[in-house]
Amino acid sequence: MRVVSGIQPTGNLHLGNYLGAIRNWVRMQDDMGERAQAAEDGSAEKNAQCLFFLADLHAISMPHDPAELRRATLEMAAALVACGIDPSRSVLFNQAQVHAHAELQWLLNGTARMGWLNRMTQFKDKSGKNREGASVALFTYPVLQAADVLLYQATHVPVGEDQKQHLELARDIAQKFNNDFASEDAPVFTLPEPISPPQAARIMSLRDGSKKMSKSDPSEMSRIELADDPDTVMKKIKKAKTDPEPLPSEEKGLEDRPEALNLVTIYAALTDKSVDDVLSDFGGEGFGKFKPALGEVLVETLRPISERFTGLLEDREALDAILARGAAQARQIAVPTLDATYKALGL
Ligand code: ADP
Ligand code: NA
Repeated sequence: MRVVSGIQPTGNLHLGNYLGAIRNWVRMQDDMGERAQAAEDGSAEKNAQCLFFLADLHAISMPHDPAELRRATLEMAAALVACGIDPSRSVLFNQAQVHAHAELQWLLNGTARMGWLNRMTQFKDKSGKNREGASVALFTYPVLQAADVLLYQATHVPVGEDQKQHLELARDIAQKFNNDFASEDAPVFTLPEPISPPQAARIMSLRDGSKKMSKSDPSEMSRIELADDPDTVMKKIKKAKTDPEPLPSEEKGLEDRPEALNLVTIYAALTDKSVDDVLSDFGGEGFGKFKPALGEVLVETLRPISERFTGLLEDREALDAILARGAAQARQIAVPTLDATYKALGL
């Protein structure tokens, strides 16, 4: 069992990134560790493993600033390690260091059909009205995504709703390639199965409950950043927008109160409780009581993360070493597949 998953490098990481994305990876890693431990010696699950990569190659499909991309890649790597991705248990690397990703994409471009890519709804969404001005990379990046997982013979790929179509494409490419260029008993590529990522919370802005918490919000008070110190966290929670009503005792009482619902959702996600469970503890209380409690839980969760995060960002050598080691491990798995692909194509 081998799970492969990528994440876009992004800077100014915040609580939404942690609860909505990064924490899921830590959970997948831990789940994989448990499976490996429980598996019989000699069974396939004994080697259960996660490969996590920073999708820096994908970033060039959109206009980007090189220095900013490098910074965001390092920042995301630091955040992943700070949040619990253990480079000795999972393979953690950035795509650009493993040249096989870009190479395999080219090789798979011969198999992918124009018609298949034309059907990808994400290209339509991301290119918008400016189809002619979009980069070729934006059009073909689902083929890079196929390369990302096929390169490692991934058996399982976590995909949300928006990525289902791209995994289908990866399977179609693998199947057609195996069909056209390999014998039935010696396929070059494994067809990866989709798995649903653990349910993730959607965290809203602390200043406006109708907007997602986001790095691009001009107000820093709208988000808790992973690097925020305890005083800053407490201050942001204290100033978070709310309403004068006390908390209800059930979630349906928060229907028209997005800011209140958001704060309770954050508390629930951090403590692994349901919103109803949190409300059964805090129902009837006002925010004068709830906010300090939320602030404390946040500080407790974020303190070790922000310490490790800022520590790693200051120790560039350690961070480079983690990524270099991950890339070396990734190459070991990737190169045999890449070689087999060249060979199958008569190259
Ligand atoms: P931002 O919205 O700040 O630009 P990105 O788009 O770079 O963040 O998202 C990186 C990852 O974090 C994605 O997997 C995304 O789904 C997740 N994410 C970002 N913001 C939130 C949020 N407010 N709530 C939950 N998940 C989020
Ligand atoms: Na975004």
